[in-house]
Amino acid sequence: MSEVLERGGPGGTVAFRIMTVCLGNICRSPIAESVLRAKVAESGLAEQVSVESSGTAGWHSGSDADPRARATLEQHGYPLRHSARQFRRSWFEAMDLILAMDRSNYDDLTEMAARAGVRASHVRLLRSFDPAAPEDEVPDPYYGGPEGFVAVLRMVEAASDGVVAHVREQLRTRP
Ligand code: 4NP
Repeated sequence: MSEVLERGGPGGTVAFRIMTVCLGNICRSPIAESVLRAKVAESGLAEQVSVESSGTAGWHSGSDADPRARATLEQHGYPLRHSARQFRRSWFEAMDLILAMDRSNYDDLTEMAARAGVRASHVRLLRSFDPAAPEDEVPDPYYGGPEGFVAVLRMVEAASDGVVAHVREQLRTRP
């Protein structure tokens, strides 16, 4: 059984699978994973929707999240157990919604899908779900200070209602 299905609940039988994706899978996408999982649970969808994360690069595979990401999540009451993973081609088909943090992640994913000959219409920029977002990217906080990590968390929170509304709509309308 793949890691994805193991994480997707018993037998991997959740109805809708979300994956957040950044570059290293140690800063932005783990924050997005934890915040979105909490919002999904608050919305009563925990049984139907799984949230995972990965990175387009494999440099940090097997590592915990960056200590600044862990501290930021802890300070804001979001739990996370993490082991970084690199995005796999087979996950395009396994996932229902793939949320890229920035345009570079988006381009890497859509190019990978094109090379693999699979659809990428479910790859979206996370901030496209925040109608008030002044820009569409979640900037990489890796080389900056701790405030950048809090900013990432706030951007994810701001997009979360839109993501949940999208998931509800998908669950309601798709075959
Ligand atoms: P992330 O941040 O993509 O949000 O996890 C980064 C983590 C590591 C590196 C770059 C960005 N790195 O160059 O190792």
